[in-house]
Amino acid sequence: MNRKYRKTVIAGNWKMNLTASEIKPFMEQLKPLLPKSRPCDVVLCTPAVMLPAMIKAGKDAKVAAGGQDVSKYEKGAYTGEVSAAQLADIGAKYCIVGHSERRQYHGEDDMLVNAKARVLLAKGIVPIICVGESLEQREADLTMEYVAYQVKAALHGIDATQLRRCIIAYEPIWAIGTGKTATAEQAQEVCEGIRAVIRKIYGARPARAVSILYGGSMNAKNAAELLAQPDIDGGLIGGASLKPADFAAIVAASDQ
Ligand code: PGA
Repeated sequence: MNRKYRKTVIAGNWKMNLTASEIKPFMEQLKPLLPKSRPCDVVLCTPAVMLPAMIKAGKDAKVAAGGQDVSKYEKGAYTGEVSAAQLADIGAKYCIVGHSERRQYHGEDDMLVNAKARVLLAKGIVPIICVGESLEQREADLTMEYVAYQVKAALHGIDATQLRRCIIAYEPIWAIGTGKTATAEQAQEVCEGIRAVIRKIYGARPARAVSILYGGSMNAKNAAELLAQPDIDGGLIGGASLKPADFAAIVAASDQ
């Protein structure tokens, strides 16, 4: 982390877990466990249908709500889709785009991720843009080239002013939900590389100001070491964000 230049963000990704009626009891457990003086921005990303409940329950605890996906279209005949305007209208402040599960199970490619990031920015929502390599790519020594390509594609057409409102999440696919965390060195190396890619496109100042998160089996035990790395500005947390005590411990670990 480098608090001088950028925000620390701890974001939970609930994926397709829990229900709207479970949010209030969850927040009642979480709130007293969160550090009083908040060391970071705290976000919970839920399925769109649960966002109103999350926004309501999160107000008091200062937990912002985020979506997990958005349509690339503004509006119209796209049955089942949720638009950026609809997310913004109910009060969502963040939205994940390009999660590897969307890429894998829904065939999302890099230009679609770019289009989604852009519609979110146009409606004032912070896109949390996910990138990350597969195990095969890591073993073939393609990690940095692949991630650099993903970052460049995702940021295509986004200007320096808009970049300030973007968050990048580095999530090695092999570390997601597997309990196999990247080592702090591995995660730092790629996050530093991502910042270098952004520096090449936008220059030193904008690159210095972008928050880059690590995601992939981050938990209460390994968070402090990961967050101590100079280019890791927070976490995108799946499994551990479903347990109030674990999630609060990760928030507390960002106070360093
Ligand atoms: P995990 O998920 O923390 O359960 O590995 C992270 C993510 O997919 O964002």
